[in-house]
Amino acid sequence: MTEAPKVTIRRATKDDADAIFLVLQACDSEIPINLDDDDFKRYIRDKIRVACLGGQTCVAVSGNQVIGFLLALPLSFEERWFELIYAGVLKNYRGNGLFPQMLHEIKVVALRIDATVKNANQSGMAGRLQRAGFSETKPSLNDERSFEWLAQAPLHEG
Ligand SMILES: CC(C)(COP(=O)(O)OP(=O)(O)OC[C@H]1O[C@@H](n2cnc3c(N)ncnc32)[C@H](O)[C@@H]1OP(=O)(O)O)[C@@H](O)C(=O)NCCC(=O)NCCS
Repeated sequence: MTEAPKVTIRRATKDDADAIFLVLQACDSEIPINLDDDDFKRYIRDKIRVACLGGQTCVAVSGNQVIGFLLALPLSFEERWFELIYAGVLKNYRGNGLFPQMLHEIKVVALRIDATVKNANQSGMAGRLQRAGFSETKPSLNDERSFEWLAQAPLHEG
């Protein structure tokens, strides 16, 4: 009997952009986003490329296949401030804590993380972010809620 390949988490590179888009496409109705429009598709592909080049986007990889991602766009490199734009894990791999692990990798380097969640999200993402220490930042807009996470200031001794 062959064992399922171990899933590893690593930073994305620009070579992961197409594979990330495929996972995003597999999750589109749950997020939800509509990828039918070619202009919007191009716009999203560009964002994925920038988020991969920005250096903090994470992917979950099984064997050679990207099976999950957390896209983090840099908002300010100096302030180590990022925006989470989309996350997705293929259905067969869910419930194994991959999203929290990818989020942890970004928190290790970030001082501030922003995120927006659509009210129609089908994965309870607002609740997941709150469990992970994010606070809601402003009253809900029509169809989405905004969150931010701030790194704790280190305690100074003496
Ligand atoms: C959202 C998604 C990325 C999560 O990926 P995952 O790797 O399966 O995440 P897991 O379910 O293993 O995460 C486990 C953690 O989430 C918590 N959790 C699970 N369901 C939750 C919910 N509905 N609300 C709050 N927390 C929840 C678990 O308690 C656990 O927390 P802990 O680590 O603090 O114990 C995945 O479900 C997905 O791809 N959904 C479709 C796309 C999507 O909606 N993306 C988000 C918007 S862009």
